[in-house]
Amino acid sequence: MNAPKRYLITSALPYANGLKHIGHLAGAYIPADIYVRYLRAQKRDVVFVCGSDEHGTAIPIQAMKEGTTAQAIIDKYHPIIEQNFKDLGVSFDIYHRTSSPLHHETAREFFTALNEKGDLEIKESEQYFDEETKTFLADRFIKGTCPNCGSDNAFGDQCEKCGKSLSPDELINPVSTLSGAKPVKKGTSHWYLPLNRHEDFLRKWILEEHKEDWRPTVVGQCKSWIDGGLMPRAVTRDLDWGIKVPGSDSKVLYVWFDAPIGYISATKQWAADKGKDWKPYWYSEDTKLVHFIGKDNIVFHCIIFPVMLKLNGNILPENVPANEFMNLEGDKMSTSRGWSIEMDDYINDWIKKENGGESLADVLRYYLTQIAPETKDSEFTWKGFQDANNSELVSIFGNFINRTFVLMHKLCAGKVPKFHNDIADDIDKKLMEDIKTASVKVTALLEEYKFRDAMFEVIDLARKGNQYMQKKEPWILVKTLNENPDNQKLIDNSLHLCLQLTANLAILINPFLPFTAKKMLYMMKVVEKMLDWENAGKLNLLSVGYNLRAPELLFRKIEDTEVEEQIAKLKAKSEALKAESKTLNVESVEPLALSVKPEIVFDDFAKIDLRVGTILTAEKVAKADKLLKLTVDLGFETRTIVSGIAFHFNPEDIIGKQVTVVINLAPRKMRGIESNGMILMAEDKSGKLHFVNPDNKVDDGSSVA
Ligand code: MF3
Ligand code: ZN
Repeated sequence: MNAPKRYLITSALPYANGLKHIGHLAGAYIPADIYVRYLRAQKRDVVFVCGSDEHGTAIPIQAMKEGTTAQAIIDKYHPIIEQNFKDLGVSFDIYHRTSSPLHHETAREFFTALNEKGDLEIKESEQYFDEETKTFLADRFIKGTCPNCGSDNAFGDQCEKCGKSLSPDELINPVSTLSGAKPVKKGTSHWYLPLNRHEDFLRKWILEEHKEDWRPTVVGQCKSWIDGGLMPRAVTRDLDWGIKVPGSDSKVLYVWFDAPIGYISATKQWAADKGKDWKPYWYSEDTKLVHFIGKDNIVFHCIIFPVMLKLNGNILPENVPANEFMNLEGDKMSTSRGWSIEMDDYINDWIKKENGGESLADVLRYYLTQIAPETKDSEFTWKGFQDANNSELVSIFGNFINRTFVLMHKLCAGKVPKFHNDIADDIDKKLMEDIKTASVKVTALLEEYKFRDAMFEVIDLARKGNQYMQKKEPWILVKTLNENPDNQKLIDNSLHLCLQLTANLAILINPFLPFTAKKMLYMMKVVEKMLDWENAGKLNLLSVGYNLRAPELLFRKIEDTEVEEQIAKLKAKSEALKAESKTLNVESVEPLALSVKPEIVFDDFAKIDLRVGTILTAEKVAKADKLLKLTVDLGFETRTIVSGIAFHFNPEDIIGKQVTVVINLAPRKMRGIESNGMILMAEDKSGKLHFVNPDNKVDDGSSVA
């Protein structure tokens, strides 16, 4: 596009169902904030919107866990998350809420507009229903085994283990998360967004027009969605919690229909507060819209929401720089398993604990950007965090600025010394050149959303400053002044350049480490205007003779004990949660006799063909912890059966065992392997599995009845 007139930057709206961890922060918030701070320094017209996603089944589920109402949950977490972002320097122009009346109205209008134009379809279908709680089981109200990886904690909308997006019908052995009941099917009707009508548009827009400028991981995911066949997606649900569908009181909008519209309502609220017109931000072709998200949100932001936007006459995103995931100390980050660092914990443990603790917000921003999962998953370790701080922020960046200020006070009377052009040498010229090149490079990288590389260039420039100082050695020159008073000029030149470099570093580091840039402004006694991006690369930012303040420590060393404490804390937290969930499970196991299923007639039973077979081979299924691939000899034939028993048996221990097999169950694909039957298992009170087999060896193929 031509130079955009205005920018609309969004970060995914986090669910207000609990604290958010630093993996979220690294994925959708810090990169967006860096970009926005850069645009603001460029004096561009930019609005940065975010807010709480307060609908969907995630909210009432948390309410059940905490024994309270959905409303109480969002009212509890919305302000905490908002404040957490502030404390970490994420500078939204507005942090809105999807529970606000303005949002409800905006989402309903959007729905009505599409519905009235015939862009939605109504379809009848059979959906899972929980007869105990009288609820349709959408999304996270239903759980079961993932058909993709075999995890048995997959939700009706997504498997959190492997990330695959699912529909309740794909779950194996579904159960209601509300009551634990086995669901039944019940007819209902819903509105659908027929994505299939938009395949040509999506192919052209993503796979042709954006195939070069979008990240390959994003284009790749979109391609596999499109190639996999686009289908109508239900945009309504039979739930209580959510935005009522216009003209119906039992249905609400699907959370993924309403939440992205939250970007629009947030913009409206921001504009109303500022006395501005919101419309150009969503309708005008000269607006550049960029969505920052994590990879689990790609399909919603690149396929579904763009189709909605197109149908509604809105602009489309210019880019959707999605990040991959950040692991933690060798394992996947997860709040529910206690293997995570919540933003709130980091703030309390590091930032709030000491005077000037904001610099520790910058340390986290620094490390998260350094290991940003821009192209592949990455890993946060406390050791890495400590190293990034101690050997880069303290030893390179902080050290350069501190040395410059200390020496300027000692050798130049606390004033910006003069630069004597006539004696400038190649080393000086090289540094001047480096300052200019760095600002050009950082700018180009930021424009391409390469935040990690951009930040590296800034640190590298500080490193060059240290090398320059090392070559110039003004602390040695000062000792020669008695014999050679002219050497003061050399001292002046070196400190003049180091100070101009300091000013440049403040400008360039500002998008990444805003608290640090502010401290630097204070030390240089200059106003914020100096941070305007147009000043980057200039060598006259601090005027000769100007008095500067004494140096302040920008970063402090982080001790081994501090990070060891954090590692211990992380381990203790996850152990405690494990223990808790074990006790919960034991308590929640019903006495075995109580879970008797409803009566059936003999004919129902007679439909099941049960046979005895012998396990011939057993092997683990790649990337599916729970699954074993078995071949079973049934006498008359040998079958492949995939069974979710890998946690209970070693493959080599069960070869030769006789088992009972349901042989007329419809084949089912798991992890790409077709399973032709099911092995019967007895599950005892503790959840342990046992084979159900004849007391003596019988012929394979013998029937069981
Ligand atoms: N709440 C969703 C999540 O945490 C993200 C919503 S992004 C929006 O995965 F576009 F829908 F707002
Ligand atoms: Zn899975």
